[in-house]
Amino acid sequence: MARLGVNIDHVATIRQARRTTEPDPVAAAVIAELAGADGITLHLREDRRHIQDRDVSLIRKVIQSRLNLEMAATAEMIRIALKEKPHAVCLVPEKRAELTTEGGLDVVSSGPSLKDGIRKLRRKGIDVSIFVDPDPRQVIASHEIGADAVEIHTGLYANALKKADETRELERIHRAVEIAQEIGLGIHAGHGLTYQNIHPLVRMEAIEEFNIGHSIISRAVLVGLDRAVREMKDLVRCEFRNRD
Ligand code: PXP
Repeated sequence: MARLGVNIDHVATIRQARRTTEPDPVAAAVIAELAGADGITLHLREDRRHIQDRDVSLIRKVIQSRLNLEMAATAEMIRIALKEKPHAVCLVPEKRAELTTEGGLDVVSSGPSLKDGIRKLRRKGIDVSIFVDPDPRQVIASHEIGADAVEIHTGLYANALKKADETRELERIHRAVEIAQEIGLGIHAGHGLTYQNIHPLVRMEAIEEFNIGHSIISRAVLVGLDRAVREMKDLVRCEFRNRD
């Protein structure tokens, strides 16, 4: 069975909207794990828009499962990863203005500049995956520069509006999975996956890990809202009675 890595970045997004202390991603990580998550995924972005350095440190210490740190392959991030020693790192491209990671890393052209960082991370026992588009050239290039795994970018599949586009993207993912399998790379997948669109990917048995964030946190807000309102309503009702 494939592993589920729960990406809790957007718990931190809600906290950072008020620059306060709740909701704490550390608590979210523990709850996700108790619910069956096989790992916790965080993206420490250069602009620190959601996850903060203290989240990475604390979550690394408290979880019992695996921490997968998504990050750009910059000197600053490599230094942080070598210090915090997550179980795994996923190298992603990062642009300041983007709302979320927009595409896979171009390993074909930037591969040589990644090699040194990958070597340092692996020497510390950190598994390295690279987030790539479902493109055979990117998969092969990731293998050549020493990655342990690729995380296949499923965003174009997830966002496809027409059935023909969805089918084409699924075929691209399938081909990339086959190639990664042939050359012995670990295979992960993520981005834009939801309760509705994950089914055909789960049927690809070679995919070992799914990293899913936005859809799970969105659902948590909705399925948790009823209870949250009831709890506040009870407080208001109680206090109202105490007025007399
Ligand atoms: N995998 C990678 C490499 C990502 O950058 C992200 C987004 O942070 C995800 C998975 C999770 O994507 P989503 O939030 O759309 O589920």
